[in-house]
Amino acid sequence: MRILITGADGQLGQSLQDTAPQGLELIATDVHNLNLCDEATLHAGLRAHAPDVIINAAAYTAVDKAEAEPTLAHAVNADAVAGLARYCAESGCKLIHVSTDFVFAGDALKPYLPDDPTHPASVYGKTKLAGERAALEGSRDARVVRTSWVYSEHGHNFVKTMLRLGADRDRLTVVSDQTGSPTYARNLATTLWRLLHVWPDYPLLHYADSGETSWQGFAKAIFADAAEAGLISRIPEVAPISTSDYGAPAPRPAYSVLDTSLTREVLGINPPEWRSALREMLRRLDQEI
Ligand SMILES: NC(=O)c1ccc[n+]([C@@H]2O[C@H](COP(=O)([O-])OP(=O)(O)OC[C@H]3O[C@@H](n4cnc5c(N)ncnc54)[C@H](OP(=O)(O)O)[C@@H]3O)[C@@H](O)[C@H]2O)c1
Repeated sequence: MRILITGADGQLGQSLQDTAPQGLELIATDVHNLNLCDEATLHAGLRAHAPDVIINAAAYTAVDKAEAEPTLAHAVNADAVAGLARYCAESGCKLIHVSTDFVFAGDALKPYLPDDPTHPASVYGKTKLAGERAALEGSRDARVVRTSWVYSEHGHNFVKTMLRLGADRDRLTVVSDQTGSPTYARNLATTLWRLLHVWPDYPLLHYADSGETSWQGFAKAIFADAAEAGLISRIPEVAPISTSDYGAPAPRPAYSVLDTSLTREVLGINPPEWRSALREMLRRLDQEI
């Protein structure tokens, strides 16, 4: 089976390559050799590779920057997905697309189910919601998996940013009034491979590692576990700050924990606790340094 991965240089794209089951032929592409926003070359490129499955790990993920670049964010996160879905509908290729907890308003009191009403506040969230719809309306052979707070040893993410800032500062302020589930890209990747194997009838599923925390709680865990692993010798103070005092350009959901019970049931998986997943990521990061 030929699997074409878009966004293969990103966190999820690289984790998909790290965890791919044996026997699959992987075609790893990113913007330099398959620009999803160039529909003419996109379709020619896809036809040339003739994949059986496309896993779309590409996205415009700069949440704050998207507020100032809505057209580009929409082109990558929605229009390009419509192009992929169109190709899949025409060719019979399967599509696995990834979306985000930021499609929700964030005022819920319990974890979000896949069918709960969406109401994104940010440009990023709105474009990702448009992308989900483009995938599911464009092809019957599309599956969408929403995830949250993704990090890995690859690329840019909160864990690596905290370790970099913590190396220079004695005290950091980190947002304490947003709650979500940190998710190790490697676990998400493994779940997508499982999804491909099972190919459930459900078009929309949630995957996040288990449990929940705030960004401040996540940051404290990163420093404690990095010290324990011998990655750092000094733990900075992590002080709380509110979302409004932090003042990021893009609004974010206050609460965006995803309910993964349907995914557990249909894929037969048991997502690891976020804290043990974090320790595993730090071990791999240590091996890379
Ligand atoms: N990161 C998170 O916290 C998070 C949370 C929830 C959901 N998600 C979703 O999870 C998925 C994977 O995220 P990630 O963290 O792995 O993202 P990532 O690390 O930012 O990787 C995305 C990749 O897509 C590439 N890309 C951008 N525009 C493209 C284009 N026009 N054509 C082809 N490739 C293009 C990027 O290249 P450049 O780097 O050169 O732009 C990058 O290599 C995305 O759908 C994202 O929305 C992420």
